[in-house]
Amino acid sequence: MSDDTKLKPVKVEIEGKQFEFPVVRGSENEKGFDISKLRDQTGYITIDNGYANTSSCQSAITFLDGEKGVLRYRGIPIEQLASQSNFLEVSYLLIYGHLPTRVELDAFTKGVTQHTLVREDLVKLYDGFPRDAHPMAVLSSIVCAMSTFYQDSLDPTNKDQVEISIHRLMAKIPTIAAYAYKTSIGQPRIYPRNDLDYCSNFLHMMFAVPTEPYHVPKEVVEALNLLLILHADHEQNCSTSTVRLIGSSAANLFASISGGICALWGPLHGGANQAVMEMLADIHRDGGDVNKYVRLAKDKTSSFKLMGFGHRVYKNFDPRAAIIKKACDKVLARMGVNNPLLEIAKRLEEAALKDQYFIDKKLYPNVDFYSGIIYSALNIPVNMFTVMFALGRLPGWIAHWKEMNEGGATKIGRPRQIYTGPQTTEYVPINQRGKLKVAA
Ligand code: SDX
Repeated sequence: MSDDTKLKPVKVEIEGKQFEFPVVRGSENEKGFDISKLRDQTGYITIDNGYANTSSCQSAITFLDGEKGVLRYRGIPIEQLASQSNFLEVSYLLIYGHLPTRVELDAFTKGVTQHTLVREDLVKLYDGFPRDAHPMAVLSSIVCAMSTFYQDSLDPTNKDQVEISIHRLMAKIPTIAAYAYKTSIGQPRIYPRNDLDYCSNFLHMMFAVPTEPYHVPKEVVEALNLLLILHADHEQNCSTSTVRLIGSSAANLFASISGGICALWGPLHGGANQAVMEMLADIHRDGGDVNKYVRLAKDKTSSFKLMGFGHRVYKNFDPRAAIIKKACDKVLARMGVNNPLLEIAKRLEEAALKDQYFIDKKLYPNVDFYSGIIYSALNIPVNMFTVMFALGRLPGWIAHWKEMNEGGATKIGRPRQIYTGPQTTEYVPINQRGKLKVAA
């Protein structure tokens, strides 16, 4: 962090009085002014719908440059991690802050591998859900329920308890996700196998059956590693901010992650990958006229949005979307899959990027636009797409929760508001209501 003492404070004039607020500059020269004393000094608060201009914290985990389409985990460009790393190594990088040595990575891998089994009593919960339960509801429920089985490791201030909770979450979330899928299709749940690597183990639990051996295709493992790396973190997005907010009350890691899963579920966030595939399938069924849907997306009287397009931060291409788009052709070719929705997605992207509305509003494909094409090629069902996003994002959520808890005196997150409701209003006994005009 640069020496902020040289930065001139920001001057603000309010009702004729001058106020100064110190400036904070990040390692990539982002600047912000610290308003933590604003209300005390001025009586004013700020308003920032969706926190589009407000930082909730200072963080050393991930850097985005939305104008340049840059994404780096702990300073390492996503393109290098995508082409050279694997998901467990990237998880270690995000959570512990550096690329692991061989000894560190082996120890982390061993620590995760040892915890892949889920308690049999916890598994009983699956049979209480309806078969058609959305797997994101099951995932968040079971992850939260983990806090009832690991009551010995819930203290966010105890390093050993946090460490074993990290290993348990990283290890069990693939098992929990695969069990949700198997239960929903009425197939036996397949136990994890500790002789398989992280991605192979997940795919084995998803697609193996007890009656015959299942070989995990290498190209599928590589594609899954890539997708999980690309989804692993994205600084203060909605679900990560949710994990931080829950964690700021000193809630345990399982409860915080369970809340993050719920936030990710929304179709404006991680749920967009499922919504994109449903949208592409609708366009395909409707004859494939992408221009009709580009027009619809611009029509303010229609609620239709081009799902997988637009981003709060990226006002240029999303580097993850560029990588996934390239991988689509390769993965589908290697899998011998021909998905007509890929051709529709490419035509839709081309039509939108030429359209002035999308150009003016800087709407580009985001990470969710093409990811579903690859998940489909891996035979992942559409309603599991957002679960796949959660599997990828878990190390990012953990890293941010850990960074916040290790960052000294965490202040509980508690935004202010501008009240717009009724002023003081007298209580009216029920036998007099309807007679008096209650102040609006
Ligand atoms: C993720 O934050 C992250 O980092 C998230 C994420 C991560 O890794 O964690 O990157 C993952 O969530 C990606 C986003 C997935 N969601 C979608 O694809 C849903 C479709 N996209 C939109 O809903 C929207 O673009 C958001 C939610 C992604 C961003 O919303 P913003 O920043 O609040 O922007 P906005 O909704 O105010 O849009 C600005 C303008 C509006 O028009 P005007 O009011 O100015 O006239 O652009 C329009 C919007 O109507 N617009 C779209 C559009 N997205 C924005 N118009 C048509 N289709 C779209 N997809």
